[in-house]
Amino acid sequence: MAVRDILKMGDPRLLRQAEPVTAFDTPELHALIVDLFDTMHAANGAGLAAPQIGVNLQVVIFGFKQNTRYPDAPEVPQTVLLNSVLEPLSDQREEGWEGCLSVPGLRGVVSRYQRLRYSGVDPFGQRIVREVDGFHARVVQHECDHLIGVLYPMRVTDFSRFGYTEVLFPGMDASADD
Ligand code: NI
Repeated sequence: MAVRDILKMGDPRLLRQAEPVTAFDTPELHALIVDLFDTMHAANGAGLAAPQIGVNLQVVIFGFKQNTRYPDAPEVPQTVLLNSVLEPLSDQREEGWEGCLSVPGLRGVVSRYQRLRYSGVDPFGQRIVREVDGFHARVVQHECDHLIGVLYPMRVTDFSRFGYTEVLFPGMDASADD
């Protein structure tokens, strides 16, 4: 339907608490999800949250088979998750590099829970419950942070591992620079 503008860090709309979705299987909701996928794919993203296109709803999408922005990442199933709830399954945390379409050109190391259960509903109101780990768990935590107004640089603790993608990863595909 449409590739939408992605809000960039500094825009106060990225700092809001998103509202739960209350109406499922509506034309408006399906149109929003198509726009999210069109926008994510145009930017080669691994995930996108509705607040990043200025829609303050608890809607995230993520998933890919191969991703130029994260060439070593394992496949993550294509998912639309509404009204998400995350529960860590252990205290174990893992560090990993993250980028964000709202923070173009930069990467940083962020500590995330290694294993978690996420639940919520799909666009038809059907319940989703999954237990995941590794990169899948990382992507979910990153995207759901957008629903509480948190961008990954707010979670960076070691700024010696935060910088420009082109400097940190000189060989990476140019399409991964945003
Ligand atoms: Ni992001």
